This record gives sequence, structure tokens and C-alpha cells, in this order.
Amino acid sequence: MDLATLTRQYDFTGRTVVITGATGILGGEMACALAGCGANVALLDRNLEPGGRLLDLMGPDAASRAALVAVDVLDRGSLDRACASVRERYGRIDALVNAAGGNKPEATAGPDRSFFDLPTDALRWVFDLNILGTILPSQVFGRVMAEQGDGVVLNVSSMNAFRPLTRIAAYSAAKAGVNNFTQWLAVHMAQQYSPRIRVNAIAPGFFLTRQNEFLLVDKQSGGMTPRGQSILAHTPMGRYGSPEDLLGAVLWLLSPASAFVTGAVIPIDGGFAAFSGV
Ligand SMILES: NC(=O)c1ccc[n+]([C@@H]2O[C@H](COP(=O)([O-])OP(=O)(O)OC[C@H]3O[C@@H](n4cnc5c(N)ncnc54)[C@H](OP(=O)(O)O)[C@@H]3O)[C@@H](O)[C@H]2O)c1
Repeated sequence: MDLATLTRQYDFTGRTVVITGATGILGGEMACALAGCGANVALLDRNLEPGGRLLDLMGPDAASRAALVAVDVLDRGSLDRACASVRERYGRIDALVNAAGGNKPEATAGPDRSFFDLPTDALRWVFDLNILGTILPSQVFGRVMAEQGDGVVLNVSSMNAFRPLTRIAAYSAAKAGVNNFTQWLAVHMAQQYSPRIRVNAIAPGFFLTRQNEFLLVDKQSGGMTPRGQSILAHTPMGRYGSPEDLLGAVLWLLSPASAFVTGAVIPIDGGFAAFSGV
């Protein structure tokens, strides 16, 4: 293969990518990169307010290929409406990135709240968002891919799916479920619908965003919490990830360059998972 052919695989012109959680920090970065590589991007989120900033970041050409669509990933009706509007605008759906997800303080054990006292509704919120919030969009947009006979689903898992982190039981278990579902759906789509439908996941390590700031940054001093220090001590590369660190793997997994890759979960973690601590 020559360089021009290889490079063309990363030209997303004419391809439509749906991203949930697209106005969030990691989803937004992926959306900008995909739009920059020529894709039509449907930006799905429950809060579209930060979407204007994203469109500005993309610039007028890429922004003209972007659509902001209000969606609750836990509401099947809202997903069905979003899917209809994306199809009406772009005709087909080539890829789905399930980036909506997260944790919350109420579902996190700590000095003020023991594991035994974590409220059921907070645990359910985290579980539903990460697991059902991945499965329901996969049902809705996966059906379109099944009809087309091709497509790519990319889930967003986490480091703690492989080895659970302390304090965040529901989030860890839910992301482990995302890994399992990624493999399950990869097999199901290939066997039941088309070997040209692929399903993979990325497992980011530690990126400072809204969902984990309360655990990693000390509110009073603005410095790192002991947990934040411990994470960096266990990350051989010695830093948090920055959102653009995800992009190479995301573009690869969504592009034909990974045509024979399905059911894989790719760590993007500065070596965290590889390090035994010794
Ligand atoms: N940050 C990290 O270190 C890290 C590490 C590993 C994995 N991840 C995963 O990466 C993904 C993106 O996380 P992030 O760090 O970019 O967090 P983020 O900035 O909070 O982005 C998540 C987005 O999902 C949206 N969302 C939440 N519930 C939704 C719902 N029911 N329907 C539609 N949209 C909903 C959020 O909206 P609101 O702002 O309104 O809540 C937010 O815009 C998540 O799956 C997260 O678990 C993050």
C-alpha cells in the first residue's frame, strides 16, 4: 500500500458519524477531529448549549457539515427521533460513537459516604448512563447499519473496566459491562447482519474533565488530591491524558484502516494498565 492510499483511509468525506455526549470534553474533541477529516457529524447531547463553541472551533466549512441534535441517551423515543432527523439530513449513518457517560459524587464512596450508604438512585443513575446509555443508541443506530450492511460502533469504556479503581463501584462495574457489551455486539453484528459492521471500544486512562475533577483536584488549594497524585505515580508517562491523545485511535477505529478489527478495547492510558506498580 502506498502513502496516498493509506492517507485516503482517514478521509471521512461523505461519511456520517453520530456522536453521543458530543458537547462533552472528550466527545467534543472527537467531533472536531472527525469534522476536520471531512465527516458529517451529528452532535447528540442532552445539553446543546456548549455546541455553539464547538461549531466555532470547527470553523465554517466543518461546521456546515455538523448538526446539533438534542437527545437523552436513556430515552428510546428521543433516540428514535434523533435517528430520523440525522437520516433525513445526511441519508445514511456510517458510524456511532457512544461517548455519553460518566460518574457522579453521590455514587462515589469516601470519608463522608461509605459504600454501604451509597444511594440506590445514584448507583442506578451511573449504571444506566454508562450501560443503557451505550446499549440503547447501539440498538437505534445499529439497526440502520444492519439495514445498510455496514457501519462502525465505537464505545467509550475506561481503564477501570480492566481493574476496578477504589471508591467508584458502580462506574467500574458499568464500564466493565461496556467492554463485555462491545465484544457481544461485535460478534452479533458480524454473525447476524454483516461482517462489515464492526464494534470496538477505547478505554481512556485519566483525563481531567467535569466528571472526575471532584476526585482529582482539591477544591480549596486547586492542587492535586492524594488520589490524583497516586494516579500519576501509576502512569508511566507521568501525566494525565489530553483529549487529543484519543484521536489517533478514534480515527483508526472508525476508518477502513481497522477493517479487520472488531471486538477490541484499546487502552489509551499512558501505560497505566501495563504498570504493576513495581
Ligand atoms: N474523563 C476521563 O478521564 C475519562 C476516562 C475514561 C472514560 N471516560 C468516558 O469518556 C466519556 C466522555 O467523558 P468526558 O470526560 O468527556 O465527560 P463529559 O465532559 O461530562 O461528557 C459527557 C457528556 O455526556 C452528556 N450526557 C450525560 N448524560 C446524558 C444523557 N442521558 N443523554 C445525553 N447526553 C448525556 C453530558 O451532558 P451533561 O454535561 O449535561 O451531563 C456531557 O456532555 C464518558 O463515557 C466517560 O465515562 C472519561
